[in-house]
Amino acid sequence: MDQKPRRGRRRFLEHSALGLLGLASAPSWLSAMDMPSSKGGGGNPPNPHFKPDVEWELIAREEAVSILDGPKTRVLRYTARLITGPKEVLTALPGSYLGPLIRLQQGQKVRIQFRHELSEPTITHWHGLHVPAEMDGHPQQAISKGETRVYEFEVLNRAGFHIYHPHPHGATASQVYMGLAGGLIIHDPEEAQLGLPSGDYEIPLVLQDRSFDRNNQLVYASNMHERMLGFAGDQILVNGRIGGAIEVASRAYRLRIMNGSNARIYKLGWSDGSNVIVIGVDGGLLETPERYPYVMLAPGERLDVWADFNGQSLGTVLTLGSLPFKGVLPRMATSMGGGRMGASKLPIGSAYPIVTFKVTQKRSDSPTLPTHLSRYPHYRLDQVMNKDRPIPIAIKESPMAMLLNGQPYGQGGFQRFERVPVNSLQLLEIFHDHAAAMEHGESKEALKKPSGMGGMGHQMMGMGGMNHEGGGREGAMGMMDGGMMMSMAHPIHLHGQQFQVISRTIGMGEEESYGTVKDGLMSSGYKDTVLVMPGERVRLIKPFNDFKGVFMYHCHNLEHEDMGMMREFEVY
Ligand code: C2O
Ligand code: CU
Ligand code: CU
Repeated sequence: MDQKPRRGRRRFLEHSALGLLGLASAPSWLSAMDMPSSKGGGGNPPNPHFKPDVEWELIAREEAVSILDGPKTRVLRYTARLITGPKEVLTALPGSYLGPLIRLQQGQKVRIQFRHELSEPTITHWHGLHVPAEMDGHPQQAISKGETRVYEFEVLNRAGFHIYHPHPHGATASQVYMGLAGGLIIHDPEEAQLGLPSGDYEIPLVLQDRSFDRNNQLVYASNMHERMLGFAGDQILVNGRIGGAIEVASRAYRLRIMNGSNARIYKLGWSDGSNVIVIGVDGGLLETPERYPYVMLAPGERLDVWADFNGQSLGTVLTLGSLPFKGVLPRMATSMGGGRMGASKLPIGSAYPIVTFKVTQKRSDSPTLPTHLSRYPHYRLDQVMNKDRPIPIAIKESPMAMLLNGQPYGQGGFQRFERVPVNSLQLLEIFHDHAAAMEHGESKEALKKPSGMGGMGHQMMGMGGMNHEGGGREGAMGMMDGGMMMSMAHPIHLHGQQFQVISRTIGMGEEESYGTVKDGLMSSGYKDTVLVMPGERVRLIKPFNDFKGVFMYHCHNLEHEDMGMMREFEVY
């Protein structure tokens, strides 16, 4: 019965990027995961009736790049070659393992021919884009070496900053870690009217963390602890590079910030204590600029920041760093590891610099911050189809399994609430599921057998439907395994259209650590990824328009995603 997965796994280990890249032994957590089927089969031909405005070939392959002094680092890297369209579509990031920055206009018809030279299956997903299900990069569309996956879609999104990255089940985390990721910017006429800083004054900042061995090779998660918490590297990379100051002029800049890390959460703040001026989030511009003392940025989230160096004297140095915070890691881990996260020498929640700006040029032509940025409708509860029965997304954390809605990815078929009618507006509620587990006297035994949790879906319908205003029992009650707390923060990402967060409620007993992050939790604008803190209950409204088919939702802590903390909606 388990012959098939085992064969897949063995082949994966033999040929995986990790193997090729010379890790002495396969990470132990690999054996506990569902490996992607080594057979691809996701290849498809172009549609002869589709006339693209823009077309490029995207290739993923192994390369070596210079990141540290000394030997080059072996990575996996996206490269691209433009076939049709203006050359602004692709901007290579020299010396970086990141894929080229892609720049598109709303309304463009796009064709991408994706192939790879990796020995394990992969597939590319357009994180943040509203595209048909068949174009979304579903794990089942993974292709093997030699196959080509053709994507064809129209750019429907408003202006925004998105991500392209691999999405094969069980290997997303390792492939992203090895380097496969890139940024994708969409422009639209509403944004163009604002005259926001552009060209040299628009700077993408992709934040990632990595660990290197003595030969400058990437080191990845090696134990259960790192798998459970998510992998944190001990060096911060910005756009695939380490350190170094960015030289700026004394004027306003637009920083397009992406958290491209596997699991690291940042609390972004300026070294001089000034506010972070946010003009946009995952799904594009806000209505008006918003000022925050700091902003939390979890894996998969993006931020559009107005950075004004106007009036700064030559030589001024300003640093964007991560400020100290608590509460995103399980207390169990904190007490066991003395506050250290996994093996990282740079614990999540500690203070460290990320990127430094040095004013080296005087300018007097700075644009001013617009008071109004964008107009869009605010979704209201009286517009949703299911006001009294929110679709639950129950976060289930245990040392043995990280789950959403009681089932690991790929098991049990769609639960009733996972089937959503097309062109509907839905209320969703994300919450931690400890209370339900407690009430049902769930034993350690049950935790070891994910299939033994069949009752959970049923239970959740009750919680989602009746208990939604209840307030935070779960947060305070997250006890398991002899009194240890097991509750951590999860960035929950929903494929398909962007949503709006309508409320956040924190449970009793979590207020103290919550206080260190709450003023920077992003709830404004259109989002596709939302950071849910321990004990927190987040409600959101999401449209499921235009496209039928299967759309994933998952934790964007990529180790969690690969562990099965991923489910699907069937839009019908
Ligand atoms: Cu950025 Cu389904 O992922
Ligand atoms: Cu996505
Ligand atoms: Cu998670």
